[in-house]
Amino acid sequence: VTIVCVPTAAERDLLEDVPGGGRVVVWDGTGDPGADVAETEFLVGNYLGGPPSAEALARLGGLRVVQLLSAGVEPWLPVLPDGVVLCNGRGVHGGSTAELAVAGLLSLLRHLPDFAAAQERGEWSPRTADDLDGLRVLVLGAGDIARRIGAALRVFDAEVTYVARTAREDVRTLADLPHLLPSARAVVIALPLTEQTRGLVDAAFLAALPDGAMLVNIARGRIVHTDALVAELRRGRLSAFLDVTDPEPLPAGHPLWTAPNVLITPHVGGGTTGWRRRGYRLVREQLTRYAAGDQLLNVVEGGY
Ligand SMILES: NC(=O)c1ccc[n+]([C@@H]2O[C@H](COP(=O)([O-])OP(=O)(O)OC[C@H]3O[C@@H](n4cnc5c(N)ncnc54)[C@H](OP(=O)(O)O)[C@@H]3O)[C@@H](O)[C@H]2O)c1
Repeated sequence: VTIVCVPTAAERDLLEDVPGGGRVVVWDGTGDPGADVAETEFLVGNYLGGPPSAEALARLGGLRVVQLLSAGVEPWLPVLPDGVVLCNGRGVHGGSTAELAVAGLLSLLRHLPDFAAAQERGEWSPRTADDLDGLRVLVLGAGDIARRIGAALRVFDAEVTYVARTAREDVRTLADLPHLLPSARAVVIALPLTEQTRGLVDAAFLAALPDGAMLVNIARGRIVHTDALVAELRRGRLSAFLDVTDPEPLPAGHPLWTAPNVLITPHVGGGTTGWRRRGYRLVREQLTRYAAGDQLLNVVEGGY
């Protein structure tokens, strides 16, 4: 019998039963796990909270798998007990995050923040904007979110180039950036935060972009050097759409709030209403695989 632990009663209701047989217990990851929770073999992480403490996790003696419903796994890595498989929620938030990236890019391109400001003043002030037709867009990443963004932009005939780790058809690598940046009209960041991507978009990266280029970050704030971006925004050279920032949450009074040509949303890319439904579709699929002894999806650590 597999003991599956989920963070809320609502999620227990969504799961209904355990594919392959088992029991569902509820623990939100805070405080001490009770005796029934201590028998957990398959833990679903709390999407709306942080990970449990390392001490609390260590009390789950039979723990084999941690399934997260987020794409990012960074906070879990330091507390994950040895030998436990960690799977992320790749795909759960991909569609909604890609949606917001495209919304943000189109808002910049079509000057929606300016029109919203004009509307507030009761002003009818037309201006001509560029469109996506032939616009050169670099999408950093070629994974779930990146591909969805690229596919959506290509519907409007944008010229999309993916930049990722491994070169393959229509995917270039970071080593090609010096050639790609000077002609990129927009850069969309859809990369995980890792040692290699932290601070990737620094002053030199931004300086290589042409005047008027747009930067969209829906991935992680620390991939971009905030100070370097603020400097470029103040120069009026670039515009940006940011769903993620460094620091995050962005504190009151931070220079980004008042920088020109930046549109900020408070890390809401993945958090649309459908995430639980999609998340528990993934959990059911994983439990079915687990019961059959098949390879799990989205393994980021451990694996068996
Ligand atoms: N704003 C939000 O609410 C929100 C929601 C969900 C996710 N996110 C963020 O978005 C990120 C991407 O999610 P995803 O589901 O698209 O991930 P994914 O499917 O795993 O794709 C990641 C992509 O990044 C590339 N990559 C990884 N390390 C790289 C490196 N060092 N240099 C160049 N490319 C590298 C990979 O390249 P290869 O293909 O060559 O391996 C892959 O194409 C997540 O990690 C998360 O931080 C944000």
